[in-house]
Amino acid sequence: MHNIPSKILLLAKNGQLGWELHRSLLPLGKVLALETPQIDLEKPETFIPLIRELKPAYIINPAAYTAVDLAETEQERARNINAVAAGILAEEAQKMGAVFIHYSTDYVFDGKKGAPYLEEDETTPLNVYGESKLQGERGIQAVGGSHFILRTSWVYSLRQQGGFVNKVLQWSRQQTQLRMVTDQIGNPTWARMLAEITALLIARGEGYLRERAGLYHLAGGGFASRFEWAQAILELDPQQQEQIAAEILPALTSEFPTPAERPLFSALDCSKFESTFNLTLPPWRTALQLAMG
Ligand SMILES: NC(=O)c1ccc[n+]([C@@H]2O[C@H](COP(=O)([O-])OP(=O)(O)OC[C@H]3O[C@@H](n4cnc5c(N)ncnc54)[C@H](OP(=O)(O)O)[C@@H]3O)[C@@H](O)[C@H]2O)c1
Repeated sequence: MHNIPSKILLLAKNGQLGWELHRSLLPLGKVLALETPQIDLEKPETFIPLIRELKPAYIINPAAYTAVDLAETEQERARNINAVAAGILAEEAQKMGAVFIHYSTDYVFDGKKGAPYLEEDETTPLNVYGESKLQGERGIQAVGGSHFILRTSWVYSLRQQGGFVNKVLQWSRQQTQLRMVTDQIGNPTWARMLAEITALLIARGEGYLRERAGLYHLAGGGFASRFEWAQAILELDPQQQEQIAAEILPALTSEFPTPAERPLFSALDCSKFESTFNLTLPPWRTALQLAMG
């Protein structure tokens, strides 16, 4: 089944970002897109032999343990997938000279800086998920090789039924008032934009990428509170007549306790990415408008 040489190996093709990556990477050549259980990051025996046989030029890893609250009780699983497997993938990529593209998170920060985070800012994750993603970053960096760690934030897609955008739309049809927190601030990032930018990088070629490998912040342009993001979703809703919500009331994160603590101000400063690759990240609201159009 896997005897066709593949230029690009994509994991988690049915994840939120993975689905968009599959769509965006297809024009670039041979893409082998896989999903669990074909490849299970908890079981290195399902992917190490496959990678060695395929010898891809690129390994793209949007797979992750992303259940932030559940990770507090499933620590070992989160670490195996987000940290151990990320390191193994980087090692395999390095051995065969492949470019490794991996995604990380704003949750590596504690949110106390009060301004958008730069790549070199101190990392202090507040929860197990963030800690496991940070360990993944460190494992990849320890291996070296031509790797990209792309830290992103508040990823959404209209295909994601339980995602923030669809939840806000659903609540607006069920409740006359919505309550949204004003003290959680991040960069809403359209999964499609993230995927298309990844494809743009790959299209520039291996040599170009190898010279620029490293850690980058890559997310929607600008930042917003959950409250502002929800307001924009309702304003841009193409079926506004179905909304019964008359207003959104401001609330505080402390009113909604969750098992995992989250950083409050975790917006990412993406200027290193923009200047290195001479690209402009669309403002989050423009991307949202396109996503909802
Ligand atoms: N979503 C966000 O707001 C956000 C924010 C910052 C950073 N990120 C990062 O962005 C990347 C993409 O996230 P996403 O939003 O696309 O997440 P997602 O929709 O939850 O997708 C995660 C994917 O990983 C797969 N996966 C989970 N366990 C696996 C395993 N043991 N082996 C192989 N695949 C496994 C899942 O497959 P199954 O469904 O089969 O388990 C799923 O396809 C991740 O690195 C995430 O940490 C996301």
